[in-house]
Amino acid sequence: MQDMTALRAAVTPASVPSPEPVRVGLLGLGTVGSGVVRLLAENRDAIERRVGRRIELGPVVVRDPNRARSVQVPRDMLTTDAGAVLDDPSVRIVVEVMGGVHPALEYILRALRSGKAVVTANKDVIAEHGQRVFAAADAGGADVFFEAAVAGGIPIIRSLKESLAGNRIRRLAGILNGTTNYILTRMEREGVNLDQAVAEAQRLGYAEADPSADVEGWDAARKLAILASIAFSSRFLPRHVYREGIGAVSHRDIAHGERMGWSLKLLAIAEHVEEGVRLRVHPAFVPRQHPLASVHDTFNAIYVQGDAVGDAMFYGRGAGSLPTASAVVGDLMEAVRFIDRGGKGLSCTCVYRIPALSMAGSASRFYVRLEVKDRPGVLAQIAGVLGRAGVNIESVLQSPVGEDQAELVLVTHRVAEERMARALRGLRRLESVERVAAAFRVAPEDL
Ligand code: NAP
Ligand code: HSE
Repeated sequence: MQDMTALRAAVTPASVPSPEPVRVGLLGLGTVGSGVVRLLAENRDAIERRVGRRIELGPVVVRDPNRARSVQVPRDMLTTDAGAVLDDPSVRIVVEVMGGVHPALEYILRALRSGKAVVTANKDVIAEHGQRVFAAADAGGADVFFEAAVAGGIPIIRSLKESLAGNRIRRLAGILNGTTNYILTRMEREGVNLDQAVAEAQRLGYAEADPSADVEGWDAARKLAILASIAFSSRFLPRHVYREGIGAVSHRDIAHGERMGWSLKLLAIAEHVEEGVRLRVHPAFVPRQHPLASVHDTFNAIYVQGDAVGDAMFYGRGAGSLPTASAVVGDLMEAVRFIDRGGKGLSCTCVYRIPALSMAGSASRFYVRLEVKDRPGVLAQIAGVLGRAGVNIESVLQSPVGEDQAELVLVTHRVAEERMARALRGLRRLESVERVAAAFRVAPEDL
């Protein structure tokens, strides 16, 4: 093994070139903010040598300066006054890691308009108000970076904006929410039900006290809107994303999927088809041999299909203090480089207006689980409803549940959304169908 210390000494200048520090103001010192402070302290030498500048942490804005912190920050640096960062001309870069839309949005706009570079991890602001943020950046001649807003430590934003920019991206398919992926992993591995898995995710600090943004797919939808806007160079908003969460998933569905060689994931899919771009977040069965099926626990992954690169997969930690700080600090270093070069980084890359498509016109294979009365003729009634709606059945499995009840698991051939919706309405109307317990899509065959 090489002596890395000797090697580093041989290629690194003896001292950091510029003695003039860049002053950075921090908005928020929670999970991510603490990680940023820790990373800047622990890797200070490497970070400063790589950018050729000292980085000086300025005021840190919090809600409660007296709260116990996981990192040591001098008490006199903590303030509740955002003006201490936003109105101080010596602060060149603002790191916004406080979260929420208000007042974070207003602080970001104010910083950019006054010419300060902004690094943010705020997916809510970027997904809903990206256009205003970019306009403010252009107005102030400033840069805005948001690598941490999607998939935590995974470098997907810059990869799409720069390294893959020469491609026509056909599709992105990702696991963009670590909390739900953890919940589904626990249900698959331990056979626990949804409520138990959610409670466990809360106990471990992955899910919020109100886990609805994760469980109902809002968090993934916001992240998908951001990725799709970059991948297809056209602005998409969270409201353009068709969304179903994991609230209806039962461990029975996961077990049936396993038997069929599938793993159930909350997939976020953005596809460019002839008529436009279709964005969707919903549970989907993924064949076990597909790389996305091997993404477990709180990990995230994004599978990119481009015309030149082919298939590429990005995998890593989508959340957490240091993984997210890794993306924030990388952006911070890029901001310092742009300040030093006197240039400006990439601003908004939405140069097209591509229509956002609804789910109508899309087709999938479906997995359907029914709880039915166990008596003669029921299967024929169900087949009749499906047949009249134009749904072609690929397989059926029936198992007894109790004395006069049965569980039917159907897998359909690829069928248009409208036809499947009509079939499900018809099944719910049948007296012999006690419950349509689940209806999940199977991931596209060409994924
Ligand atoms: P957090 O732990 O709740 O920390 C938020 C921080 O901001 C706290 O220090 C809080 O002050 C401060 N703050 C909140 N509202 C404020 C206000 N109105 N005025 C002044 N200070 C305020 O949040 P987080 O988990 O670090 O997340 C921060 C951002 O990163 C969010 O946009 C989130 O979506 C994003 N993100 C988080 C993760 C993750 O793993 N956590 C991953 C990717 C992206 P106090 O400490 O005094 O309460
Ligand atoms: N709540 C998010 C997740 C982390 O579970 O992936 C922050 O983006």
